[in-house]
Amino acid sequence: MKCVITRGALQRQLRRFRTRGESIGFVPTMGDLHVGHLSLIHRARRENDRVVVSIFVNPKQFGPNEDYRRYPRNLKRDARLCRRAKVDIIFTPAAAQIYPADFQTSVDVERFGKLLCGKDRPGHFKGVATVVAKLFHWVVPDRAYFGLKDYQQAVIIRQMARDLGFSVGLRFCPLVREGDGLAASSRNRYLSVEERKRALALYSALKRGRELIRRGTREAALVERKLRNYLSRFVDRIHYVTVVDPDSLENVRRIRGSVLIAVAVRVGKTRLIDNLKVSVH
Ligand code: PAF
Repeated sequence: MKCVITRGALQRQLRRFRTRGESIGFVPTMGDLHVGHLSLIHRARRENDRVVVSIFVNPKQFGPNEDYRRYPRNLKRDARLCRRAKVDIIFTPAAAQIYPADFQTSVDVERFGKLLCGKDRPGHFKGVATVVAKLFHWVVPDRAYFGLKDYQQAVIIRQMARDLGFSVGLRFCPLVREGDGLAASSRNRYLSVEERKRALALYSALKRGRELIRRGTREAALVERKLRNYLSRFVDRIHYVTVVDPDSLENVRRIRGSVLIAVAVRVGKTRLIDNLKVSVH
């Protein structure tokens, strides 16, 4: 496994693979790898000749009062996990590589970027789309892997790839839960034992929502109200609890076909998101 930090070194390695006709799977991450990332890496490993993992805590996707500085960074451990998972290249650029002085260009998936998390994290998805576009240009992967815990991010990347004509094959992979049901996330590290117990209410709320729908509730506002009431007993702030169309991310009124129940809350100082897709026939 090679660990490279510059675009030049990355592309020299990639050229070697390409001249041999080898396919490249790409897993962009911000590091602090967990079971969710590993599931993406394992799938990339199965589906490609070579696997590239980028580790870059992207400053442009954090708001001024968010956790950029304290976001967990653990390159040694990440490298060990990647080696074990048979990753070929880890790319860990410095911020100045990705955003040289006078960097001015950004990619904004305008409508999707303003919904759901975009409302209380202005600029977040612009930062995500910009860095992913740049990484796609540098790696030119055959396939790229993203987890569906960040469902809105997945929709935005799909739209961005379509709008800008990236020919990468996008693979969106199921959300992975830890043993107690909490969706795997690097931010789970921030939770105290007591907060973690309360955070389990997210998944319980989603399952309650699914049960309501399965038992015949079709009014989305009613599902949202019940889940909000339930969650308010456990979490410190509810950013949103919403039932949306899984493709357009627009709110639905009547539930039919497939819907996504999406939640974002704060427990202590930690912002957590989760979602569950529910289909009715
Ligand atoms: O999902 C993440 O870890 C990040 O948003 C991503 C896609 C690596 C972009 O920084």
